[in-house]
Amino acid sequence: MTSADRGRDAAVNRALWRVVNEQYTDGQAGQRWSAPDIVWGIFDIPEDEIGALGDVRGKDVAELGCGTAYFSAWLARRGARPVAVDVSEAQLATAQRCQDRFELRFPLVQADATALPLAPDSCDLVVSEYGASLWCDPDGWIGEAARILRPGGRLVFLTNSVLVSLCVPADEGPAAAKLARGQRDVARIHWSDGGVEFHPGHGELIATLRRHGLEVESLRELHAPPGARAHSYYEIAEPQWAEQWPVEDLWCARLGGGSADGDVEHMPVVHGDRAARGAGGPGVG
Ligand SMILES: C[S@@+](CC[C@H](N)C(=O)[O-])C[C@H]1O[C@@H](n2cnc3c(N)ncnc32)[C@H](O)[C@@H]1O
Repeated sequence: MTSADRGRDAAVNRALWRVVNEQYTDGQAGQRWSAPDIVWGIFDIPEDEIGALGDVRGKDVAELGCGTAYFSAWLARRGARPVAVDVSEAQLATAQRCQDRFELRFPLVQADATALPLAPDSCDLVVSEYGASLWCDPDGWIGEAARILRPGGRLVFLTNSVLVSLCVPADEGPAAAKLARGQRDVARIHWSDGGVEFHPGHGELIATLRRHGLEVESLRELHAPPGARAHSYYEIAEPQWAEQWPVEDLWCARLGGGSADGDVEHMPVVHGDRAARGAGGPGVG
């Protein structure tokens, strides 16, 4: 994709998130900011059970596609120094109001995650929770994440599972037990009533990470826990569906060239990297 293509997608998504902010995220932000625990995804899986982030104390963190920046707030309370980036002024205005209300301040930056105004080698951790990880061209945002990470720094991101993106209906409603489109169709998909999303297959995503010098540490495929309730706004998948199939992919990767700090117990990669080895080129970070 060219930077002009990325700019057009960012404009579509900025317009979408102004609407979603009015409909949902602005009203929910206070509750999310005040939540005591870090949780992942539409079924609120506790980070304490997953252990993807490790100890964030003293770490320079960038959150890409932060929305109302509650995830950065959670990290700041645990001693990290976040910079929260989003392309939507509406979402950042909500984040700013929450900063004032909760008296917890960190930089909020309006920018496209595929063209970051952040210095190279300035972060120990880059996170994205349903942010750039879903809404940006993978080569663009992962390239930027690799550029701003220090050697040995980590990239942790959550997005829809590839499978759920294949099973949701084209208009509205949760995933069905039936494939609705081909996998190549979701690598970049512009929903008729929504935004532009990116759901590369696992092999393609691993190849992109490796091309930018990032080694995959783990891929957790998240399911609904027993007794889970359907999300009140994001109707991606019902609990019954997500008990059977993964609804979200949580990736952890590390930029080569530095020493691991060894504070996270890493799970094995779930999927093979045959495609990645075939496509591996020099990192551009
Ligand atoms: C689902 S929200 C993620 C934020 C938060 N973690 C959440 O779950 O509400 C997606 C965010 O990605 C942002 N976004 C979309 N395209 C972007 C881009 N090109 N660069 C930066 N942020 C972008 C949107 O503005 C939106 O705030």
